[in-house]
Amino acid sequence: MLKLAIEAQIPLIAVHTRDLVNFVDVLKTLTKKAPMVFDPNSPKPKPDSLFYFVHPAGAQLPLVKIYEKMVAAESTLILVNPERVVEPMFNAGEVPVPRALLLDFMKQIVIDEAQAATLLQGLGGCTIKEAAELVRLTTARDNSLTVQGIMETRKSIFQGMNGLTQIDIKQGFYDPPKELADWIGKERDFFLHGKDPRLVPRGLLMDGPPGTGKTAAAKYVAEQWGVPLYRVDIAGTKNKYVGESEQNLLNNLARLDHEEPCIALIDEVEKIFNTSNNDTSGTTSTMLSQLLWWLAEHRSRVLVMMTTNAASKLPKELYREGRIDKTLVFAGLENAPAMDFVAKVLDGFHGKFSEVAVKEIMKSVQPISDVSPLTYSQAALTAETYAWIKKSPMNAKP
Ligand SMILES: Nc1ncnc2c1ncn2[C@@H]1O[C@H](COP(=O)(O)OP(=O)(O)OP(=O)(O)O)[C@@H](O)[C@H]1O
Ligand SMILES: [Mg+2]
Repeated sequence: MLKLAIEAQIPLIAVHTRDLVNFVDVLKTLTKKAPMVFDPNSPKPKPDSLFYFVHPAGAQLPLVKIYEKMVAAESTLILVNPERVVEPMFNAGEVPVPRALLLDFMKQIVIDEAQAATLLQGLGGCTIKEAAELVRLTTARDNSLTVQGIMETRKSIFQGMNGLTQIDIKQGFYDPPKELADWIGKERDFFLHGKDPRLVPRGLLMDGPPGTGKTAAAKYVAEQWGVPLYRVDIAGTKNKYVGESEQNLLNNLARLDHEEPCIALIDEVEKIFNTSNNDTSGTTSTMLSQLLWWLAEHRSRVLVMMTTNAASKLPKELYREGRIDKTLVFAGLENAPAMDFVAKVLDGFHGKFSEVAVKEIMKSVQPISDVSPLTYSQAALTAETYAWIKKSPMNAKP
């Protein structure tokens, strides 16, 4: 967005960065221009130029005057990290770090070019400053530098930052619903290697009662496709300051674009965007429109997986075609498949289990509701199976 805004000669552009140290280098690489520091007192800025200015805390700039000066000079001013994005600024979101620049940085650390490129895989979305910190921390801990090491460090320090967290995709047994398994197989190559953006899968809505494996499905897809999984915590980014939540969400979406290929999990969307709750602050509706815009327009390989317990409460536009490829219903398992499921969970343990065991376990599992045919959540089936194993004297090895 920043590059486009500069090309379009927008007079006053607001950006945010977490790396002021390397900002000018990033700007140079991004625009192939030589940006100059802006002097707010200069009566007549140089024509046809690119300026930048780091917004001092608490400063009140005569924005409209500056804007007019820029228009007259046909120049652009980039305001870096303003406290609030207000008129007449154009909001270009977060400054992306060009891959080429990160690669140059890594080449200074490891001489081998191929190794530098490999390490870069673990640094998607990082600023140069963050990359430098990750390299130092990882080397200090491991006495060596590997992609796994970098990802591990990264997870431990980025945890809880701004509502975007990378989550661990390791999980035990997961038996995917057939529709999901088919979809994963069919879409895999379009996601990872597809050349035509129109055919790259964009997302899924997973609808169903608690414990039916919706969140686990996101981990499963990430694991099957070998890409990282990020959790976007929209509710958690809601902030008491006007404008802050919206900015946070924009930053997180820009960050995801930069981390492609990856999966973005937005859990329990009905808790955030619920058609029946009247959020009068406007924050939620602004965030919803930002998300809708991004879901439809993003050209990055970011697969969005949203989960909900109540799709009927969601605004329809959130999951219409073009934003989401498919709604998958996670309804739990009816009796026969539930028994197969319990048998598979038992298989994961040593020892022989009879059909009697499966029947006995089934007796203690609570169905999701008493509507017939009875269905059971995989979470409840798993929990009762574990409980049975612990109770059974011949298997009670801790
Ligand atoms: N298809 C499955 N195969 C194996 N285990 C499963 C499956 N589905 C669910 N489980 C078990 O149930 C647990 C809960 O699943 P998960 O957290 O994905 O449910 P959920 O649908 O996201 O529920 P909620 O709506 O409450 O968030 C998992 O940790 C796993 O043990
Ligand atoms: Mg869940």
